[in-house]
Amino acid sequence: MARPVAAITGASSGIGATFARRLAATHDLILVARRRERLEQLAAELGTPCEIVAADLADDSAVKTLAAKLGAEPRLELLVNNAGFGTKGLFWTASLESQESMHRVHVMATMQLTHAALGGMTARGRGGVINVASIASFVRSAGNASYCSTKSWMAYFTETLALELKAANSAVKVQSLCPGYTYSEFHDVLGVKRERLGPKSVWLTAEDVVDASLRGLDRGKLFVVPGWQYKLVAFLLPKLPTGLRLWIEGRATKSRSRQLLEGEATSR
Ligand SMILES: NC(=O)c1ccc[n+]([C@@H]2O[C@H](COP(=O)([O-])OP(=O)(O)OC[C@H]3O[C@@H](n4cnc5c(N)ncnc54)[C@H](OP(=O)(O)O)[C@@H]3O)[C@@H](O)[C@H]2O)c1
Repeated sequence: MARPVAAITGASSGIGATFARRLAATHDLILVARRRERLEQLAAELGTPCEIVAADLADDSAVKTLAAKLGAEPRLELLVNNAGFGTKGLFWTASLESQESMHRVHVMATMQLTHAALGGMTARGRGGVINVASIASFVRSAGNASYCSTKSWMAYFTETLALELKAANSAVKVQSLCPGYTYSEFHDVLGVKRERLGPKSVWLTAEDVVDASLRGLDRGKLFVVPGWQYKLVAFLLPKLPTGLRLWIEGRATKSRSRQLLEGEATSR
C-alpha cells in the first residue's frame, strides 16, 4: 500500500526537523523551508522519500505554488504549519517589513496551505493539520505584539476549524501545538541569549514537543501544551479577570520592556 505523505514547513531546523525525523518511519515527506541545503542534508540523513521545496513562505506566489502541490497530492495525510520566527524590539521600533513578513508566514501561509490540504483531506475522510502556535497565544508580552497576535490567530483559527470539522462529521483532526521556550535555532536567529530568558527548568527539547504533539494527534487533542509549567500557565491565565491578567503579564515582562527600550529583545 502507498505510504501517506506529511508536509512540514520550517523543516530545516528545530521543531520542524524533529517532526521530519519522527515521521520518516511512517510517511513520505514534503520538506519546506528557505535553506535548500539544510533540507537536502536532512533528506539524506532520513533516507526516506522526501520532496524538497525551497520556498520563502513570506512570498505569496511561493505559497500559492506550494498550496497547489498540496491540493494535488492524493496521499497527503498530515500538514504541519511550523515555519515561524520572532522579531526584535517594541512594535513601533521593530521594522515594519519584518512584522509584515511574520504575518505572511504565520497567518497567510498557514491559512492558504491549510485550505489546500483540508479540501482533499475532508473529501478522503482522513488526515490532520498541526498548527505550531505558541504559549504566546495565551500570554501577552512586551516586544512580541505581532508574535503574540499571530500565534493567537493560529490558535483561534485551529479551534474554529475543529468546530467546522465536527459540524461536518469529518474524521480529519486539527491541533494547535503551543510550546513554551524550546531549544532550537529560534533564539539564535533572533540573537537572544537563552540564559537571559529563564532557568534550564523552563526549557523544553524539540523532541519532547514533537512527541507530545504526535501523541496528542493520535488522541484527537485540539490543544497540546507540552510541559507541566506551561500547562499551568495556559490553564490559569485565561481564567483571570483582564485587569489582573494584564498586571501579571506586565510584571512578568517589566525587565524585558526595560531591555527592549535599551535595544535588547526577547521572543518566545
Ligand atoms: N523555540 C521556541 O522557543 C518556540 C516556542 C514556541 C513556539 N515556537 C514556534 O515553533 C516554530 C518552529 O520554530 P523553532 O523553534 O523550531 O525555530 P527554528 O529552529 O528557528 O526553526 C524555524 C523554521 O522556520 C523556517 N522559516 C522561518 N521563516 C521562514 C520563511 N519566511 N519561509 C519559510 N520557512 C521559514 C526556518 O527555515 P529557513 O530559515 O531555512 O527558511 C526554520 O526551518 C515556529 O513557528 C515558532 O514560532 C518556537
